[in-house]
Amino acid sequence: MEAQAVKKAAQMIRDSSHPVVLTGAGVSAESGIPTFRGEGGLWKNFRAEELATPRAFRNNPELVWEWYNWRRGIILSKKPNPAHHAIVSLQKQQQEPFAVITQNVDSLHTDAATERLVEMHGNIFRSRCTRCGKKVFEKKTTTNHPLCGCGELMRPDIVWFGESLEAGNVQSIYKELDLCDLLIVVGTSGLVYPAAGFAETVYSKGGQIIEVNPQPVIPYALALAEKAGEVLPLIAESHKTM
Ligand code: OAD
Repeated sequence: MEAQAVKKAAQMIRDSSHPVVLTGAGVSAESGIPTFRGEGGLWKNFRAEELATPRAFRNNPELVWEWYNWRRGIILSKKPNPAHHAIVSLQKQQQEPFAVITQNVDSLHTDAATERLVEMHGNIFRSRCTRCGKKVFEKKTTTNHPLCGCGELMRPDIVWFGESLEAGNVQSIYKELDLCDLLIVVGTSGLVYPAAGFAETVYSKGGQIIEVNPQPVIPYALALAEKAGEVLPLIAESHKTM
């Protein structure tokens, strides 16, 4: 672990007037939740277009629900790891808690009591009626054909490939990025837009970027090429002493 880089990252956060954290599947990897790409990734065994698209759901809703119920089952037994907790410590240590934008749908940031969280891709434990739009949050698995009170089929309240982000989330995200002078990118491969473009948005207007990922991909970032659960607690610790 590079002590200098840890200290520098902590100082950058301390000095920032408006930091924002962006997380991806890597932040939950040490909780035991599989990421999407890479070794053991979910998209190695499943084809995204057969499961995470509106078309897949139209063609075979039971199969799509079976997959989401299987993932709910895995996630139900998992807990936030030191990376989630360190982000919350940093929020508390700053004068104002910064926003955390996550691509994850696993609820672990919420379980860690993260403030100002934007779940840009939805939440795996929330369903939405395909007719009346009613939303139901339940932290358990459901049937593979869950019905709304109105009689119509529910779907996972997840942003699938080819779908737009929820308008309210778009507004909050771009308001945050507009003010942001430091984006801390944790555990994302940077392949799925719009999140993949956030670092460029901040950097191109003069902001700084910190990337926490054993396989960093952002060339202009201060890279901490370590596991988030190992390095984020060190950054939070260093930040506390400043
Ligand atoms: P990916 O699976 O594409 O990338 C996970 C990233 O986490 C990789 O860059 C890994 O190197 C990194 N990583 C692995 N272990 C780590 C650790 N312990 N600490 C830090 N980083 C670690 O996941 P995402 O980038 O989140 O969309 O994927 C983006 C979107 O693609 C997901 O939100 C999902 C998927 O299709 C939807 O479901 C809508």
